[in-house]
Amino acid sequence: RSRGEAWEPLAGRTALVTAGPTHEPVDPVRYLGNRSSGLQGYAIASALAVLGARVTLVSGPVMLADPAGVDVVRVETGVEMERAVRTALPVDIAVCVAAVADWRIDGVSDRKIKKQAGAPPPVLTLVSNPDILAMLAAPGPERPALVVGFAAETNDVEAGAITKRARKGCDWIVANDVSTGTNVMGGQDNRVILITEDGPERWPLLAKTDLALRLAERIAAWFGTPVM
Ligand code: CTP
Ligand code: CA
Repeated sequence: RSRGEAWEPLAGRTALVTAGPTHEPVDPVRYLGNRSSGLQGYAIASALAVLGARVTLVSGPVMLADPAGVDVVRVETGVEMERAVRTALPVDIAVCVAAVADWRIDGVSDRKIKKQAGAPPPVLTLVSNPDILAMLAAPGPERPALVVGFAAETNDVEAGAITKRARKGCDWIVANDVSTGTNVMGGQDNRVILITEDGPERWPLLAKTDLALRLAERIAAWFGTPVM
């Protein structure tokens, strides 16, 4: 490699990243959501592209600009995210960073729900959203060679993540502690435990952009020799 030439160990590989929250409508003006900023997922999509991968980023609603050199597909709901992910297949690498809402509202109202004097508050019925990571990790001809999930945990992060890796069938889990006070969701930094087939690895506190580069390098190392 000559001076100034980009080091692109993921050249010739394709990657899919999900990022951000999903918004699940209640009615035309309200939704159910979560605190994901999208920063970590956007940083990972960007890092994979910097290392030469062709990256599709399927993003929930966030206040972030498209990362350079990445194809961005913007969606609102978990069901839309799943559809966009299926459309992006097949890929070599999938990294699910999105905080997909676990539930959506059953029977979304097509009109704004109004208060009614003396009437009790409305009761919202929830149904499960598709599990995108589990779908990607399931055995099949279109399963990406490397499927990486994230785990947001508030208690016993490592044990929870090891269980989650087995339950989802993914290859790696990046586990982070999102208990209040640690400033992960919405913050600039992240401290994670990477769970692979070799067990847990504690990473130091890193800026989300540095964590993204380290993870992308790690993915490149897992693939080994670049494809030409
Ligand atoms: N995930 C997904 N689709 C969902 C829910 C989660 O793709 N419907 C992915 C996330 O992107 C993340 C991983 O699954 O990579 C774990 O998400 P998390 O919310 O921590 O786990 P859940 O299985 O939803 O379990 P719980 O929220 O109950 O801890
Ligand atoms: Ca969840």
